[in-house]
Amino acid sequence: MEPGTTLPDKLLSRISIAKAEIDRFHEVRIISHYDADGISSAGVLCNALLRAGKRFHATMTKSLTNDLISEMAEGCDLLILSDMGSSHLDSLEGLPCKVIVLDHHAPPRDSEKVVHVNPHLAGIDGMTSGSASAVCMLLAAEMDERNWDLLGIAFAGIAGDRQAIRGLSGLNQWLFEEGLKRNVVEVRPGSMLPEGELLSGLVGSTDPYVIGVSGSPQGAKALLEEAGVPLNARAEDIDETQRMKLSSLLALKLTAQGTPVVTLDEVVHERYHFPRWGMSADAFASLLNACGRSNHEGVGLALALGDEEAMKHARALRQEYVDEVQASLLRVIGKGITKGENIQYFLNENLGLSGILSGVTMQYFGDRDKPTLALADTGNEIKVSSRGTFELLDQGVDLAAALRESAQKVGGVGGGHRIASGATVPRGREKEFLDLVDKMVGEQKAQKKDAA
Ligand code: C5P
Repeated sequence: MEPGTTLPDKLLSRISIAKAEIDRFHEVRIISHYDADGISSAGVLCNALLRAGKRFHATMTKSLTNDLISEMAEGCDLLILSDMGSSHLDSLEGLPCKVIVLDHHAPPRDSEKVVHVNPHLAGIDGMTSGSASAVCMLLAAEMDERNWDLLGIAFAGIAGDRQAIRGLSGLNQWLFEEGLKRNVVEVRPGSMLPEGELLSGLVGSTDPYVIGVSGSPQGAKALLEEAGVPLNARAEDIDETQRMKLSSLLALKLTAQGTPVVTLDEVVHERYHFPRWGMSADAFASLLNACGRSNHEGVGLALALGDEEAMKHARALRQEYVDEVQASLLRVIGKGITKGENIQYFLNENLGLSGILSGVTMQYFGDRDKPTLALADTGNEIKVSSRGTFELLDQGVDLAAALRESAQKVGGVGGGHRIASGATVPRGREKEFLDLVDKMVGEQKAQKKDAA
């Protein structure tokens, strides 16, 4: 979709139907995913419902089960699922209440009974061009023009799902343009440097992840000294010469550790700044993400509802989270990554961190030719998080299919996006599962080659 074009009618008509359903009810039950996009989605919805004078009860969850669906639907007239639901239409259609699904995961099918809003159904790729929070934002804007002030919350979901790193497109781009017209968003040039305090920003950074600097106060200090930057400087304080020197030192280190140019280009993507929140979409996403990953989704939601104490709490959670991620990444680098023929994987002790560890490994120091899988042992199950790259997708790789089908073959479940997917498999069957994924990724690549 070119900038300035309108949204597909199919998406808009579903949004209108969803709005009409919300108008009919006074109380709404919400279930959303626990990650940044899920919390951001719930944040947009709850603000819009509050403004519309509705009562709501929101729950965020890691995974949706049929039991949870039945439990949530009990005594409820209107159930809204955000950032999930498109894969659960069978059970949702059986519920006695009205159901709205606002999702962006590739849907296996559409529904007559459920109000099913998903960019994929309208020809927009939900993996790259429309987060769940973007769908919720579209609904909020349809409900009330004043809800455009919620765009910053929605953009935390877009950034959290890494949909802003290659430039905006589709629904995300449309929202951005509308936001610009209403002066609720500003664009700032991209930078290799962290926002705010440089020393702590460099030590805590995973995007970019610079070996010897990220997670290393000593390394970060040495780098600042080499660039002639005072150790207590903030990004906005340094002059152009210092900024250029520091940026080029970081770029050189990344290149030396094998990070490709395409990733460097992603790091310096444009920033979307929200004056109402005094921060960028990326910074907002990092707060919500830390809340979700530390089982404090409620803090993330409260923050989105404007609670100042929640903001302070979220900042503390983010610091703890950053410290844990850095320690875990050092362990991954220390222990090494096991390479199969078509995939690479490692074991991770901290279940909640698998996604980010897998992503950082894939982007910054792993083998670019092999999708990365992080495996965490929960006692009776193995949870898996996988991440790929856009180049791997171009080569035919589809991690959602590979993990879903391989997990099913060993008695587990899996799914997600082509570039980022997950699975749960019974303990003891992980080796078999890994072999299946390895084989399937090889077949996916071979099929694409044959078709070319
Ligand atoms: O947990 P993680 O962040 O790695 O999940 C990546 C994606 O895979 C998410 O979109 C998640 O919803 C999806 N997923 C799934 N089924 C699973 C585990 C994860 O669809 N069993």
